[in-house]
Amino acid sequence: MNIELKDIHNIENKYFMQTYKRSDLIIKKAKNQFIWDIYNKRYLDFTAGISVCNLGHCNELIIEAIKEQLNYFVHISNLYYAPIQMQFGKKIIDNTTVFKNSKIFLSNSGAEANECAIKLARKWGFINKNKVGNRYEIICFKNSFHGRTMATISATGQNKFHNYLLPLQEKFIFAEHNNIDSVYQALNKRTVAIMIEPIQGEGGVIPFNNTFLHELRNICDNKNLLLIFDEIQCAVGRTGKFYAFENFNVTPDIITLAKALANGLPLGATIATSKCAEAFIYGDHGSTFGGNPVSCAAGLAVLNIINNELLNNVCIVSQYLNQKLHNLKKEYSIIKDIRGIGLMIGIELSIDDGQDIMKYCLGNGLLVTCTHNNVIRLLPPLIITQADVDFAITIMEAAFKWKTKMMLKR
Ligand SMILES: Cc1ncc(COP(=O)(O)O)c(C=O)c1O
Repeated sequence: MNIELKDIHNIENKYFMQTYKRSDLIIKKAKNQFIWDIYNKRYLDFTAGISVCNLGHCNELIIEAIKEQLNYFVHISNLYYAPIQMQFGKKIIDNTTVFKNSKIFLSNSGAEANECAIKLARKWGFINKNKVGNRYEIICFKNSFHGRTMATISATGQNKFHNYLLPLQEKFIFAEHNNIDSVYQALNKRTVAIMIEPIQGEGGVIPFNNTFLHELRNICDNKNLLLIFDEIQCAVGRTGKFYAFENFNVTPDIITLAKALANGLPLGATIATSKCAEAFIYGDHGSTFGGNPVSCAAGLAVLNIINNELLNNVCIVSQYLNQKLHNLKKEYSIIKDIRGIGLMIGIELSIDDGQDIMKYCLGNGLLVTCTHNNVIRLLPPLIITQADVDFAITIMEAAFKWKTKMMLKR
């Protein structure tokens, strides 16, 4: 491929809406936990395409499954049956006992999975009116992120996503992280659901505490509300369990999934338990591409591949990584906090220079992401080894050392 960075910049500036701040990395190929640029430089990928390629890049079993489906058909619409879509839907529900009698709706992305959850909750609220009538308010959380469509940015508790887009959709009320009093304050007779990421991702990798999630479950049971877990970033093995909620022992009434579900092909899912799954009837929701057969083939392969051995690897390797990061924290005062579960880790800095750390790592062969300018987020593929951790720690340590030195010079 004979294309230089300046050509890419020119094309992007001229032809693309300027919505992304991309790093100067032109990718040629990727395999497992590694990515190569067009100059054949190798990078260790601790982003997994933002928690998408959880099984690594170009997994052979997934490629085989995709190819096999391509031989049959790519798209037929939801006017007809694609056997692979049925197989995928059945397997994901059957795999988890708490989803017995649950139902699934398939879409293409996280935002769509959440839109579906919001619509389902509102429809259920309409059917289950109380004395005051319709119920439609949804309690969300400050600092959350639920997507970029109008309903999902309205459910997102970060003002920066609302800029210039007012008016937002109404009746999303925001409570505070781990603060049950704030949830009670937000509650009223119109409340129909509580929507939460058990671990806030874009918000800076902030897990909710176990007691708080249990309290939410109790509120939903006592007041007949729906508990919606947005596990778009934290599910599919990322925390060492298939679903993040398994770490907390709290089950939602609706769960939304996307990102890693098909390891890189677009696939979103909204799973609703028997409490509310029947609320949607013919015509209530739909999607042209939703549950695309090729994506479902990849999704089915993902479900077949994820096993206890892999989930165990997440636990072992993440413990090792955490220990090394805590050692770095003792050495470098710019590291304020290390948090997360499994291989979803946030390194909060005491400075707003996360982008510089990210660029330093990139220049030295390690890909990490940065949120809020002060949190380095690590989302490696679940297949990484201790040797990969050692490499990543060496680069991150060099980055922290370099940044500390720069700060002393100022
Ligand atoms: C928790 C969460 N919800 C929803 C979304 C939106 O997903 P998508 O970008 O696929 O629409 C994201 C994306 O980062 C996310 O992290």
